[in-house]
Amino acid sequence: MILAPSILSADFARLGEDIAAAERGGAGAIHVDVMDGHFVPNITLGPPVVKSIRRATTLPLDVHLMIENADRYLDAFIDAGATWISLHAEALPHLQRSVAHLKDRGVQAGVAINPATPLAALEEVLPELDYVLVMSVNPGFGGQKFLPGSLDKVRRLRRQITERSLRARIEVDGGVDLSNIRALTEAGATILVAGQAVFGAGDAERDARKLVEAAR
Ligand code: DX5
Ligand code: ZN
Repeated sequence: MILAPSILSADFARLGEDIAAAERGGAGAIHVDVMDGHFVPNITLGPPVVKSIRRATTLPLDVHLMIENADRYLDAFIDAGATWISLHAEALPHLQRSVAHLKDRGVQAGVAINPATPLAALEEVLPELDYVLVMSVNPGFGGQKFLPGSLDKVRRLRRQITERSLRARIEVDGGVDLSNIRALTEAGATILVAGQAVFGAGDAERDARKLVEAAR
């Protein structure tokens, strides 16, 4: 199980310190939410910030692209140091080609699906994926409430991956906290994103550790 704290809820003026605290608490990756004000109703950060974070930690950078025309920016995020990149199925018309490009460039490729997007949207591309990001809130903001239907979606996806003998891992993003992290790992998720639950109370080391312990 990998805990991937989302820096969306960190203090952007103290990003390096906040990331270091999460790392001491057992974080296994850093989740970076990229939003463009079009695909989602919020704006966050771009490749220059990823490049700075790359120098601040040795953990994998899990870059979640919530942007339109993502194809246009893939190389910039890869060059900036992204280790894993997730693309939204709803935002890319030629998803297979976009995924192939990520793999050609040597990054781990993921596809993200919104709560209303059925698992069927993954059917053809699933064999090529390193991971699937199941959104358990509608993307755009940290601190939203976990949508309970996501748990069964994770279970169904886990079953499909096993039945087809595929290797994709399952990541869950949105409203993950101490109350649901254990159920999510039991359902088959192995990468858990948490923003507010790690950075919201001002002690990222302690709260990351609690989540890792609860998940195991
Ligand atoms: C939501 C983002 C999430 C968010 C998670 O649009 O993709 O990564 O930061 O934050 P919490 O854990 O607070 O829901
Ligand atoms: Zn995210």
